[in-house]
Amino acid sequence: MKQELEKLRDKAIAAVEAADDEPGLQALRVKYLGRKGSLTALLRSTGKLLPEERPAFGKRANEIKAEIETAIASRSTILAAGEKETGAELDVTLPGFRAERGTIHPIARMLNEMTEVFTGMGFEVAVGPEVELDKYNFTLLNFPPDHPARDMQDTFFVSKDVVLRTHTSPVQIRAMETRKPPMRIISPGKVYRHDRDTSHSPMFFQLEGFVVDKRISMADLKGALTVFAQRIFSEDTPVRFRPSFFPFTEPSAEVDIGCIFCGGEGCRMCKQTGWIEILGSGMIHPQVLRNVGIDPNEWIGFAFGMGVERIAILKYGIEPIATFFENDLRFLRQF
Ligand code: DAH
Repeated sequence: MKQELEKLRDKAIAAVEAADDEPGLQALRVKYLGRKGSLTALLRSTGKLLPEERPAFGKRANEIKAEIETAIASRSTILAAGEKETGAELDVTLPGFRAERGTIHPIARMLNEMTEVFTGMGFEVAVGPEVELDKYNFTLLNFPPDHPARDMQDTFFVSKDVVLRTHTSPVQIRAMETRKPPMRIISPGKVYRHDRDTSHSPMFFQLEGFVVDKRISMADLKGALTVFAQRIFSEDTPVRFRPSFFPFTEPSAEVDIGCIFCGGEGCRMCKQTGWIEILGSGMIHPQVLRNVGIDPNEWIGFAFGMGVERIAILKYGIEPIATFFENDLRFLRQF
């Protein structure tokens, strides 16, 4: 009988370990441990043993019972886990999907950086429409009626009096019409021109800025724009102001920085001059102030405007300009 008990144990454990589903396991429990099960039957027949053999037999039978119970429980856990792996919709053991991470577009990044320099100097941000009245884009900015910039070559006309703005300067007019001086405003945004080559795109970004206050001079303009250029490029970038002309500023100046490609020696990028133009600026023309109802005897201001792609091209050394708008991810991911 003792041998029978050990044989039963081995058979039961082997059967439990081979069971491949939960109903099968429960059937084994009934078969071996149930009221009419084989182990139960053996325990009932201890009467056939000598009285002195009975306690050891009983003890061993109970150990085996516990062993089979444990084996059933373990197998049950393994089967339940296995079911999750194969039967459920979510297979937690598969590698996950990589979440694609986007990057900030280089132009947006450049604009943020430029905006931060000016907001740090107390400028507020204002925006205006891209589809603009001719009056705001040209007339109130003191462009004479026959100015070449109004020519069909440069300007996209929507109708006789409506254009796609060719610069962000009309935001100066809109802001001055609706606010009272003093004011310090920058205006980033898209502008459009009928122009396309390696350094021109029919759509590009500008950043406009202006100040209207009392006792403002060209020295304030120089100071603000020098700080700007040196913050964007480097602290020791040479900056120079060169006389120029814009209808809406008098006097006007273009701002150049020492060529960052050749260090001022002269190269293809700076057309051998050692300097690269980065923006236009000047003291706001008294007629522009009059056009928006601000008294030029009481108020004075300076203004500036620049192409954002141009600054990015210089800063990152990228050319042609179209690279920014082709949306080639291999290019965009480098920023
Ligand atoms: N609007 C000019 C352009 O698109 C840039 C500019 C020059 C803006 C001088 C200004 C300025 O505000 O004062 O070329």
